[in-house]
Amino acid sequence: MKVATTTAEFRRLRAGLPEAVGFVPTMGYLHEGHLSLVREARARTASVVASIFVNPSQFAPSEDLADYPRDLDRDLELLESEGVDIVFHPTAGEMYPEGFDTWVEVDRLTKRLEGASRPTHFRGVATVVAKLFNIVRPNIAVFGQKDAQQALVIRRLIEDLDLDVELVVAPTVREPDGLAMSSRNEYLTFEERPAAAVLRRALLRAESAYGEGERDVRRIRVVVEETLAGEPLVRPLYVSVADVETLEEMETIERKALLSLAAQIGRARLIDNTVLPPGEGLI
Ligand code: PAJ
Repeated sequence: MKVATTTAEFRRLRAGLPEAVGFVPTMGYLHEGHLSLVREARARTASVVASIFVNPSQFAPSEDLADYPRDLDRDLELLESEGVDIVFHPTAGEMYPEGFDTWVEVDRLTKRLEGASRPTHFRGVATVVAKLFNIVRPNIAVFGQKDAQQALVIRRLIEDLDLDVELVVAPTVREPDGLAMSSRNEYLTFEERPAAAVLRRALLRAESAYGEGERDVRRIRVVVEETLAGEPLVRPLYVSVADVETLEEMETIERKALLSLAAQIGRARLIDNTVLPPGEGLI
């Protein structure tokens, strides 16, 4: 496995890779969720590139950029053992040199859900992903359903800017108690960690209600909110049932919907989601 820290060095290494190339962008501190994306790419393409870059532009000044967990040596070992060919690990100065002044904005999709409380987040994500796609030139890129809105934003970006990349969205990998794996789970204290599993329980209860024929979003939301209320350490931020194409909120579930939620648990802001009907893919 090769590691490149500059675009020029990456491009030299990329030239020697057998086609097709699969790409998994990450911010590091890798867990099984990230590795499942690498395996998905590995199964589909002759070569696999992963990136590790804690992208400053997707963090607001008040957010956890400085504290974001990092463990480069462990990440590289894990990626090597998964058969990754090249890791791209640029510095912030390499990605955003002096004078950097171009941003990619996906408009309507990013006003909702995560974007409502993090107004500059997806601009940072779309910009860095567009740059990474241009540097890596992948045939396919694998993203996780865990960050469903992000995957939908990337789909829009690819379509609207005519990027020649196939988007693959892989299922959310969970801890045994159902908590979606996330680098930010690291922030949970000993008491908060078991409480965090309520997010998944709330989604499962909503899936059951849907399975019993419930289509009224208000009643589904009550099921989710009552479940979350059972854990006093968990402060719900939003519960959304939205059209999976536009992320517009629905009143009655008559077509595929994304049920998503965010909650603050101590220092950790966690998100999770499921698609209704359960078992359907996000895209
Ligand atoms: P990061 O949070 O490191 O996540 C990298 C990829 O791993 C994303 O596609 C995310 O959806 C996926 N992922 C995270 N947890 C997962 C889980 N439990 N199961 C399956 N997939 C999971 O998302 C980012 O980084 C950044 O925004 C990035 C796209 C790299 C741009 O900076």
